[in-house]
Amino acid sequence: NTDQQSLYQRYDFPVGVAIEPPHTTEPIVQTQFNSITPSNRFKPEFIHPQEKTFYWHHADLLVDYALANEKRLHAHTLIWHEQLPIWMENFQGSKSDWEAMMKHHISTIVKRYKGKVQAWDVINEAFLEDGTLRPNIWLKNIGSSYIEKAFQYAHEADPEALLFYNDFNLSFRPTKRKAVLDLMTNLKLRGVPIHGIGMQSHISTIFPSDQDFISTMEKITQAGFKLHISELDISVNSISKEKFELTDEMLQRQAQRYRFIFNNYQRIEKQYQHGITIWGVSDGESWIPNYFGREDYPLLFDEFFNPKPAYCGLIK
Ligand code: XIL
Repeated sequence: NTDQQSLYQRYDFPVGVAIEPPHTTEPIVQTQFNSITPSNRFKPEFIHPQEKTFYWHHADLLVDYALANEKRLHAHTLIWHEQLPIWMENFQGSKSDWEAMMKHHISTIVKRYKGKVQAWDVINEAFLEDGTLRPNIWLKNIGSSYIEKAFQYAHEADPEALLFYNDFNLSFRPTKRKAVLDLMTNLKLRGVPIHGIGMQSHISTIFPSDQDFISTMEKITQAGFKLHISELDISVNSISKEKFELTDEMLQRQAQRYRFIFNNYQRIEKQYQHGITIWGVSDGESWIPNYFGREDYPLLFDEFFNPKPAYCGLIK
């Protein structure tokens, strides 16, 4: 019975979830999680649709919800190559015009929520799988310094906020992981305000190996960064586009994996624990089936918001 038990009370670190307004899932969010991340509403295409217009309504609702319910809000994401408004993709100007535009974007948003949003994904997915910087509009128009500048602008706008670099596949792409850690360590040594690294963890029941997952967590904390398991979902079907029957064995394996990750995260030294954020409440709202065009059941609750073995394993 999820009414009486609470996931976040079961663990010593923040347990978060990605949500969208309107809060269809509010009762579960309310009782089970103490951190929220808007899955879309802080992304540039939603929050900054025109050069001179910000759209605050949904972001405000989420921030108000977090404040009223004593949830931490970890916002996602200031600078990314996807979900950009058209005006931003087509922006014309010199390097300094681009810097000014990026600064305006970051400062306006971060200042509005100063003291209300505790943490930001400042940069999302800046590296390719081969460890080179992703050729996006920011790299093209500003150069590689866009990364440190974005952190600086965010820090100036809210010196108290925790600032994160967030990326995927870090646990099974050693070259990419090394490139991310090298750059972040370097920037930090030069005084750039970077507090943590988010391991997006869109993984499956079999991939990556437990060992790779754990050693990546260790490498990040050993480099002195707070670790956010930032977008956790565990596929039971990592490739097939065919329909299949969801078996109890699949659900048990998924449950074991969730437990393995939470148990190992629990062992991390407190100062490096930022929390674990699960990328959605129920299987019915997961991004995976839509985005990858395959059947899947990666979250803790089924489409009717009933707890799955994965939830039961975590609350035990
Ligand atoms: C996804 C959202 O969950 C979807 O609703 C949206 O259509 C696409 O983006 N990596 C990220 C997230 O950093 O922002 C993505 O979220 C999932 C992959």
